[in-house]
Amino acid sequence: MEELIRQAIEARKMAYAPYSGFFVGAALECEDGSIYRGCNIENAAYTPSNCAERTAFFKAVSEGKREFCRIAIVGGHEGEMAAPSPCGVCLQVMQEFCDPETFEIVMAKSETEYTTKKLKEMLPYGFEL
Ligand code: THU
Repeated sequence: MEELIRQAIEARKMAYAPYSGFFVGAALECEDGSIYRGCNIENAAYTPSNCAERTAFFKAVSEGKREFCRIAIVGGHEGEMAAPSPCGVCLQVMQEFCDPETFEIVMAKSETEYTTKKLKEMLPYGFEL
């Protein structure tokens, strides 16, 4: 767990957030043990912005990964560390690829201070076709 959070902290250093000033990093662990990092990437037109979680998912899926066990997320304004809760859009992306009963969302303030929730708890009525 500490290693996954450490990777999320590293990912956060790449965050591009000149509009909100809120810098987020995520580290997504695949079933095969590989880890994909993501950061938030904002845009002057606002809506094209991408959250750290989706960046990590899209990197992993575009590299052929489809099985995931957990994601660690860290974030905050410059010089502070909060434990951000994923937005609804990111939760729905997780729902697409993960088992809601087992996939874990780790919201971290540091390597040792974190809260873990199952996707099902965060998005009890996720959309499925
Ligand atoms: N953001 C994330 O990347 N992940 C979250 O879990 C919450 C919010 C980003 C979106 C935007 O770039 C900034 O944080 C402020 O909302």
